[in-house]
Amino acid sequence: MIDWKTIKDLHANKKLEEIIGKWFGVDIFYTDQHGNVHSNIFDKDYDFVSHFFKIQSQLGYGKEFVSQDIEKGLDKLKDTEEDSFYYESFFPHVRMIAAKIESEGETLGAVFAYPYVTDQITKDELQEIEEKLVECGASKEDAQTSVEQLKKLQKHEYEYLKELIGLVAHEVSMVYDEVNKRENLIMDLNAELGNKYRYHNIIGKSKKMQEIYHLLTKVSNSEATILIQGENGTGKEMVAKAIHYNSPRKDSVFLAVNCSAFNDNLLDSELFGHIKGAFTGAVKDKKGFFEAANGGTLFLDEIGDMSLSMQVKLLRVLQEGTFLPVGATQPKKVNVRVLAATNRPLKEMIAKGDFREDLYYRINVINVTIPPLRERTEDIPLLMDTFLETKCGEMGHPLKQWGKKTLEKMIDYKWPGNVRELQNDVHRLVVLAGEDKVITPDLLGSKFNDAQDFGAPTGNLKGINTRGKLKAALEELEAYMIKEGLKRCNFNKSRLSKELGISRASLIMKVDKYDLDKRKKASGE
Ligand SMILES: Nc1ncnc2c1ncn2[C@@H]1O[C@H](COP(=O)(O)OP(=O)(O)OP(=O)(O)O)[C@@H](O)[C@H]1O
Ligand SMILES: [Mg+2]
Repeated sequence: MIDWKTIKDLHANKKLEEIIGKWFGVDIFYTDQHGNVHSNIFDKDYDFVSHFFKIQSQLGYGKEFVSQDIEKGLDKLKDTEEDSFYYESFFPHVRMIAAKIESEGETLGAVFAYPYVTDQITKDELQEIEEKLVECGASKEDAQTSVEQLKKLQKHEYEYLKELIGLVAHEVSMVYDEVNKRENLIMDLNAELGNKYRYHNIIGKSKKMQEIYHLLTKVSNSEATILIQGENGTGKEMVAKAIHYNSPRKDSVFLAVNCSAFNDNLLDSELFGHIKGAFTGAVKDKKGFFEAANGGTLFLDEIGDMSLSMQVKLLRVLQEGTFLPVGATQPKKVNVRVLAATNRPLKEMIAKGDFREDLYYRINVINVTIPPLRERTEDIPLLMDTFLETKCGEMGHPLKQWGKKTLEKMIDYKWPGNVRELQNDVHRLVVLAGEDKVITPDLLGSKFNDAQDFGAPTGNLKGINTRGKLKAALEELEAYMIKEGLKRCNFNKSRLSKELGISRASLIMKVDKYDLDKRKKASGE
């Protein structure tokens, strides 16, 4: 869209208009491609250059005549290759000039100059114009003076005028392009700024996190139930809070219940409440989380740990908005938005019959899956810096720095405990660094040593197995080292046994045990 205000205020154009007015006695005005006039010619106190135009504008239908002429000009612009041309206006022999404003082949409007007559005009023709004016309601006197004052232009003059008007139009087009370019630039810049490095308290600049921010912005305003999935420590609870505090319910409560923290009976009464005497110890009525969260948001954390019978009850609240407190006979109704989270693979659980499919579809209306930290390593330095700053501040230390090697090792580490693990490590490192300004790699624990990477190049082992039985993990490592060693030593077992510091017999035994024999491999794989 052209900003007509800017165009009208263009210094160059103002000057041109002035000169053109003085030389040729015409008024200049601008219209958009629909014929809307963007000059003040229709204002009551507009100071016309042309007396004729002024008188015309005061006629009952004066403005309509101009509008007709504009329409005619714009129509012609569409059909001609010319950028500017002159034509006869509503008043016989009185001429108008139109010049096209365009950008990238698209017509955006026109500049008009009006009115003039040619020097070939006869007395009779001038008389004709005068009569037409009177016919349209002008006084004899006004008609006479205005026609007298019409400029009679020679051919080279109106040709020149036409060119000048074309120039004005061209100037407008150029400015439009410029402004457009600038606006696009500003939009691009804004878009970059819009690439947020955080959303509420969630930090991360990776593309994956940006996508999550985008999704969260879209879903926060809805009332839909949202399932948040992700490994331990990826920030599921943070996401739930961000959704709540960005939603219309933000001024009501956000309640979080960890479903895995209670046994069935307790969870039942925690969620739905109970009435006095419902069971031993129920000495008075107690509101459940659903009631307490009325009007707000209830966050059901670790929903994958909920028993099947509790899942049925939950499904009913979600579907009907009603529930029965333990021991009650009258169902209660609530208005609660439910967000749920889990780090368990619900789909697999459904296949095994451990999670109800209907509940899954009911809570998974919108799914937010937070990727593990190792899949967005760009976020690691940003998170490290943020946590460093808070912890140093908390401890009253001046801001510390990351040693280069420390940073590298931390970026390479696979972070099975995700952001929580990273946050804990940063806090620990700040404490360990004491008065030192730089956090050196020697402070990093053994888990950061290269060992964790051993599986990465071949993809056979995904980092150290920090869970499960130690014996199995050791065997896994042993098999891996022998397999890689055999390849490296070209299956020379004597050499490898020396390298590994075990007897040849022992190596052969292990090769057998882990089924790493070359010939067998060759035929079997
Ligand atoms: N993107 C992030 N930016 C800043 N802090 C984060 C981010 N993700 C997680 N954290 C921090 O990591 C910790 C774990 O986050 P949160 O409790 O939300 O994770 P979770 O997915 O619910 O973990 P769990 O599965 O163990 O319950 C919190 O202290 C949180 O502040
Ligand atoms: Mg959690």
